[in-house]
Amino acid sequence: MTMIVALLLASARAIAGEDPAAAAAALTEGSMPDDAAKPLVQGKCMLCHTGDYLTQQRLNEGQWQKTVEKMRKFGAPASDEEVKIISAYLSKYWTQDAPPAKPVRAAAPPAPRPAR
Ligand code: HEC
Repeated sequence: MTMIVALLLASARAIAGEDPAAAAAALTEGSMPDDAAKPLVQGKCMLCHTGDYLTQQRLNEGQWQKTVEKMRKFGAPASDEEVKIISAYLSKYWTQDAPPAKPVRAAAPPAPRPAR
């Protein structure tokens, strides 16, 4: 029980960005650090795909800006001001120095059907 509480506290701190090592672990796990911009990113960037698309990237600031602009062309409903906030949030955490993301495992394919 104490162990679980300790783990929960550790991950809460990681998300709040207080502990750099734990924050790095959160990035590896593909979770989004808490930040004033997080709800905006969740609201604008998870309409067509999951957050994995974002959290698996390791880009520099210019590459993030280009990606966000590309998403806007695809139809992401973000204003110029929101694009700046979103790009700043993404390029703060998902940099080329961040630890590599764990690959997301696809479900196992269905068993082959017996031949007739
Ligand atoms: C209108 C639907 C839509 C919205 C909203 C959207 N995306 Fe995408 N996104 C796509 C599609 C479609 C792809 C895959 C095709 C491709 O990558 O060319 C994609 C792929 C991506 C990728 C994979 C790498 C890449 O460059 O293709 C990233 C990163 C990404 N989106 C980030 C974002 C961010 C950040 C936002 C919020 C600003 C966002 N997306 C909002 C449609 C969307």
